[in-house]
Amino acid sequence: MKTVLKRTTLATGIIFLTISGSAFAERGYVGSDTCFKCHPGEYNDFIVSGHSYKLSRAEDARNRPIPLPPGYTWDDVSYVIGGKYKKARFIDKNGFIITAAKDGSELKTQFNIEDGTWSFYHKGEKKPYNCGRCHTTGYQETGHQDGKEGLIGTWAQPGVHCEACHGPAGDHIKSDKLAKANKMMVQKEMLLCGSCHIRGDKDKIPAKGGFIRHHEQFNEALRGPHNEANDVTCITCHDQHKSAKFKDGIRVSCASCHEDVGKSYAASLHGGFGVACIECHMPRASKSATKAGEFEGDVRTHIFKIATDADHKMFTDDGKFVAGDSVTLDFVCLHCHQNKDLKWAAENAKKIH
Ligand code: HEC
Ligand code: HEC
Ligand code: HEC
Ligand code: HEC
Ligand code: HEC
Ligand code: HEC
Ligand code: HEC
Ligand code: HEC
Repeated sequence: MKTVLKRTTLATGIIFLTISGSAFAERGYVGSDTCFKCHPGEYNDFIVSGHSYKLSRAEDARNRPIPLPPGYTWDDVSYVIGGKYKKARFIDKNGFIITAAKDGSELKTQFNIEDGTWSFYHKGEKKPYNCGRCHTTGYQETGHQDGKEGLIGTWAQPGVHCEACHGPAGDHIKSDKLAKANKMMVQKEMLLCGSCHIRGDKDKIPAKGGFIRHHEQFNEALRGPHNEANDVTCITCHDQHKSAKFKDGIRVSCASCHEDVGKSYAASLHGGFGVACIECHMPRASKSATKAGEFEGDVRTHIFKIATDADHKMFTDDGKFVAGDSVTLDFVCLHCHQNKDLKWAAENAKKIH
């Protein structure tokens, strides 16, 4: 029986992935630890990647080196959001994201991992945690997890776990024989990843404060050259179970597909200095937690194409969206050549390869 992944956009704008076919949809969720016995390789790769850390109960997170907002103790926190690569936010005992000090006064409550600083997050607002669709496994939008008012919806497991991508495993796990009879969903389309790595309308690339916003890899990929129209998907490049930070988290090198460019580049000045393709083609033009400079955020873009014209506009006039289909040279070159300007970059860019 073929299982089909269906994308449903509700009136609220929430997109749900639902599974049709056989009794599959009625299976229960069992949790990732159950998979270890039979899939230790996948489990060991996955458990140290960002996905598994996305939402952690305080009792699990307190063993990790994450500081709490000043004045708070672990007894005041129910969950930690993220805290693996970019930033951590904290949820209080009633399920609301912490946005102020315990006495209600002003406090920076978002911890930034790369530079160890704190930022304001929706300063002083009463902020429910309505992020579960992209941060949890087996999400349902009704009810309140753990009976906490601020936690919107319920989930089977906090964090993006095996069954968030493969569907519930209820009748798959009891024996090898049953596992073979009750197959899991294996979805290879970009939409699987795109259901969470998206922001707003997929045909636009939202921007803010001079940077592309984060979790928009799907929006960017559709605008860029690496998408299904060119037979490339997220998992052509990514090992879906491994962090992108791991040496082998990226399966294929750029030069394995762009053979000629790879050869000519290796013989160029930058190639000789060992500057990697992604330093120019995937600069940190997006921002999640912090920026390192005027043109350097903390998330690599997936637009890939570079505009060599100094007049090319990165953003629309109101600054809310990416204007074209390319990254501008200020983001591409100036994070390394910090004492140069856009005009200099434009004069030199065409000679790079
Ligand atoms: C982010 C989504 C995602 C998560 C999380 C995830 N997988 Fe996968 N998994 C995939 C995709 C996509 C494929 C298909 C890859 C392909 O065929 O190229 C796959 C393939 C597999 C396969 C088949 C391997 C093969 O090549 O035949 C197994 C087994 C598997 N996953 C187990 C797991 C287990 C166990 C976990 C948790 C420890 C897990 N997966 C977590 C997306 C995911
Ligand atoms: C009792 C052992 C067992 C457990 C536990 C188990 N699996 Fe499997 N799994 C298998 C076997 C056997 C296969 C089939 C391999 C084959 O046909 O080559 C399989 C295949 C898969 C596949 C490939 C698609 C398919 O169904 O053939 C995925 C994905 C997968 N398992 C995910 C999971 C996840 C996620 C968990 C935990 C929630 C899990 N498995 C737990 C034994 C197990
Ligand atoms: C549409 C799906 C989606 C929604 C909704 C969403 N996120 Fe995320 N979030 C992501 C993805 C995907 C990433 C990682 C990719 C990236 O940042 O570019 C991420 C990253 C994060 C991180 C950084 C994790 C790290 O590595 O340190 C935090 C913290 C975070 N989100 C908090 C929130 C909060 C709080 C909400 C709700 C107010 C929210 N997110 C809503 C998809 C989503
Ligand atoms: C259910 C939502 C969801 C799905 C589906 C999903 N992701 Fe993610 N992804 C996230 C969130 C949330 C984060 C931020 C987690 C963190 O780093 O704490 C993230 C982080 C990442 C990261 C950066 C962290 C790391 O470990 O390197 C990569 C790379 C990534 N996802 C790739 C993929 C790929 C490829 C797929 C499809 C096979 C996929 N994701 C499917 C939600 C999702
Ligand atoms: C699986 C093969 C594959 C991999 C791996 C790959 N690409 Fe591509 N790339 C393509 C295809 C296909 C196109 C679209 C057709 C074309 O322009 O050649 C493309 C297009 C591009 C373009 C736009 C070319 C133009 O003329 O506008 C750039 C730039 C690019 N890739 C850079 C990279 C970089 C950098 C990497 C490594 C991070 C990379 N590619 C990895 C297949 C690949
Ligand atoms: C120092 C910055 C830099 C590095 C590093 C770099 N590129 Fe480029 N690349 C550029 C610029 C700038 C252009 C646009 C040139 C133009 O339009 O004339 C470009 C154009 C391209 C194109 C499209 C045009 C063409 O010639 O086909 C591809 C594909 C490409 N690069 C792939 C790669 C690959 C693969 C690597 C690594 C092996 C790489 N680049 C390394 C700056 C760089
Ligand atoms: C052409 C290859 C390619 C494709 C296609 C691709 N990626 Fe990536 N991705 C990369 C590379 C290379 C990195 C950077 C790894 C590193 O930091 O060394 C990366 C990094 C990431 C990161 C971490 C960004 C950061 O800086 O924190 C996320 C999240 C991610 N990819 C998600 C996706 C998703 C989702 C898709 C599909 C919509 C996708 N990628 C498609 C090559 C690719
Ligand atoms: C990852 C860092 C990095 C990036 C990104 C980068 N370069 Fe370079 N560039 C270098 C290094 C290293 C050298 C060689 C040492 C030196 O001259 O400082 C160099 C040298 C040069 C030179 C020759 C020396 C000079 O200063 O005149 C030019 C021209 C140049 N780069 C242009 C560019 C342009 C244009 C871009 C963007 C398309 C770019 N570079 C992006 C690292 C980078």
